[in-house]
Amino acid sequence: MSALPAFENVYGAPPLELCGDTSRLPQFSPLIPGALDLHDVAPASLGPITMLAPPGTIERRYALALALRALKPDATLTALAPKDKGGTRLAGDMEALGCTFHESSKRHHRICVTQSGGDAKTMAQAIADGAPRFEEELGLWTQPGVFSWNRIDPGSAMLMNHLPDFSGRGADLGAGLGVLAHGVLASPKVTALTLIELDGRAIACAKRNVTDARVQFLQADVRKLNVPDLKALDFIVMNPPFHDGGAEDKSLGQAFIKTAASLLKKGGRLYCVANRHLPYENVLKDNFRRVTMVAEEAGFKIYEAMA
Ligand SMILES: C[S@@+](CC[C@H](N)C(=O)[O-])C[C@H]1O[C@@H](n2cnc3c(N)ncnc32)[C@H](O)[C@@H]1O
Repeated sequence: MSALPAFENVYGAPPLELCGDTSRLPQFSPLIPGALDLHDVAPASLGPITMLAPPGTIERRYALALALRALKPDATLTALAPKDKGGTRLAGDMEALGCTFHESSKRHHRICVTQSGGDAKTMAQAIADGAPRFEEELGLWTQPGVFSWNRIDPGSAMLMNHLPDFSGRGADLGAGLGVLAHGVLASPKVTALTLIELDGRAIACAKRNVTDARVQFLQADVRKLNVPDLKALDFIVMNPPFHDGGAEDKSLGQAFIKTAASLLKKGGRLYCVANRHLPYENVLKDNFRRVTMVAEEAGFKIYEAMA
């Protein structure tokens, strides 16, 4: 394949060997703190963009349609995805959005290059389908692409059933839509709760879902936290992620456990739920003074760990 078209903007982290170093370009992925939002870009105003297209169909078509709407006339959208993470469906998405495109394949990725000019009606529908919305059944604001966006995760539901009445200052690491916060804030002795989450879409929804004056929101990578005020906490709750970029990554949950230990005061408590198969016991024991398994049900374990 010939070289990809030049680009001035980036969505996500396309592979270095395909797109070169994109780290200094304006970033539009909601999974990167500080990124701009394609939704806010005026139509027909953006220079060429390369996009590592997200894996979920609704979120992928939403992102593609937003990018197409934003592009200046004649600016290119280079969309790529690994074949097993949406890549084989990219061409179908482009067709569905009414685009003329060129498809190629390189390094296990499918690559579609197109210019603005998709079908206005289907693009508007894709944007509506992927937008934040209030889901009556969940009783929450949510958005396709966010973790467990259209159902309560069974691990989180189980953790909710086992939360003690916390008191003092705490945090929820990987807070998602703010599901656990509702359980934590039921205790009037809780004075402050910080919801920390990487996904900007989830944070935006959580702000609408959790309207309690005791709560603060922070879009950040829990592995790289640097918040001087957030220390000596009384408690932490979490349902840590174990997927990064679609692949299982046990080190992610283990890093969450180490961060939790570093944020708690001596005697502070971590409540954590995890799939039974995940190897968290040793990391918990290495980083906490006392670790207790509170419950084991339906493939999940809940741990209480004292710092
Ligand atoms: C298993 S989900 C739990 C979500 C929420 N607490 C719940 O119970 O529904 C894990 C969350 O961690 C977030 N996450 C993934 N990697 C992260 C990171 N490095 N830093 C902060 N949050 C992250 C995901 O976006 C996801 O919302």
